[in-house]
Amino acid sequence: MFSLGIVGAGQFAGSFAKLWQLHPGVGDILVTDLVPERSERLVAEYDLAGTLPSFEAMLDSDLDAVAIFTQRWTHGPLVVQALRAQKHVYSAVPMGVTEEEIAAIIEAVRQTGLTYMMGETSQYHPATVYARQRIAEGSFGRLFYAEGDYVHDMDHGFYDAYKFSGGENWKATASYPPLLYPTHAIGGVLGAWQTHATSVSAIGVRDDRGDGVFDREVSQFDNDVSNATALFEVAGGGSFRTNEFRRVGYVSGRETRLRFFGTEGCMEQLATVSFWQDREGIEEITDLLLPRPTLSSEDPALAHVAPALRGAFTSGTAPVHDTSRLPREFAHAHNGHEGSHHFLADDFVTAVNNRTLPPVNAWTAARYTLPGIVAHKSTLQGGARLEIPDFGEAPGSS
Ligand SMILES: NC(=O)c1ccc[n+]([C@@H]2O[C@H](COP(=O)([O-])OP(=O)(O)OC[C@H]3O[C@@H](n4cnc5c(N)ncnc54)[C@H](O)[C@@H]3O)[C@@H](O)[C@H]2O)c1
Repeated sequence: MFSLGIVGAGQFAGSFAKLWQLHPGVGDILVTDLVPERSERLVAEYDLAGTLPSFEAMLDSDLDAVAIFTQRWTHGPLVVQALRAQKHVYSAVPMGVTEEEIAAIIEAVRQTGLTYMMGETSQYHPATVYARQRIAEGSFGRLFYAEGDYVHDMDHGFYDAYKFSGGENWKATASYPPLLYPTHAIGGVLGAWQTHATSVSAIGVRDDRGDGVFDREVSQFDNDVSNATALFEVAGGGSFRTNEFRRVGYVSGRETRLRFFGTEGCMEQLATVSFWQDREGIEEITDLLLPRPTLSSEDPALAHVAPALRGAFTSGTAPVHDTSRLPREFAHAHNGHEGSHHFLADDFVTAVNNRTLPPVNAWTAARYTLPGIVAHKSTLQGGARLEIPDFGEAPGSS
């Protein structure tokens, strides 16, 4: 059993705090946030052990591990600091926003031997789980092409979320470059297809809404691109394409969409239907991949989440999920992001307590994150084809 500190008590942390509080492998949970009322609220809501005044106080404490749920561009340096303070680390996505941040995390994990895990929800999305099984069985034949999209319109909850997150200065950070949030799209593909991206060419679309978001004068990231498409070459032959869209009239709530094409079989996930097909015929697999709701979107636990985003926090597991390895305490606990929260929370606990590598360890996380960082660079160079550095597989993983 280990003790855990949660860093950042904003909109997302509660979903995981609740699960770790229930997990028999986790002891005391303490919370810190730059806004003290947020950590106090989280502690009260889930009956956690208490608050700490700062991240630094958390690192000075005798907690065994920390889970980082701060804003998306902040993770890299916090993770390295925590590892250097001898804490195991769970980090919300993305791993980092530069190649240097990723390299520093890998180096710190290598030197300390501690657990690092990135909480990529698409690792356990039903479509990824299904494709992973089909690939393991060899049903695709030779897989040569895939598509993974993260389609999340700014009007679908993101204005409210960024206002909560960024305060008065929210427009500066709402312009976060779409391709620097690549892990749902890329992780969905590579969570099933055992390869990695070697080069990329990407095209960005300049925003024209004119509301001060995606305005380079205002943007902390000097970014005016709101939609981007990247084509990646992969090791072993073949390619995959991702779309990161923030201005798109796509309101089905299906944020991540995956498709895989092989010489013997194909899988296609669309807004409301999914299919498997091979030389024998076509089979609708929609129901197999459909998460069953576990929580009402009116539940008080979601009061601090923008209404349009609550769907992501209410979905339970789908028939394709094998829940047998999860602790029975999770049986009636709310889940989220297509049933993935339970598996991710449990992956971290298992890795720390058993000293094993989590599925999305630092090396895997790098392969889910760095291709997007390089793709963003490609958009800035008019779609130039750029090589993607690779940190390899985790030592001892194969
Ligand atoms: N599907 C997914 O995997 C998914 C979904 C939602 C959010 N996320 C990720 O989760 C993270 C958190 O998202 P959110 O919506 O909760 O963000 P948020 O802005 O609502 O909350 C972040 C909190 O972190 C606090 N914080 C920032 N720096 C801190 C520091 N140094 N010490 C202590 N507290 C600090 C802020 O005050 C804020 O309350 C983001 O990185 C986001 O990318 C992932």
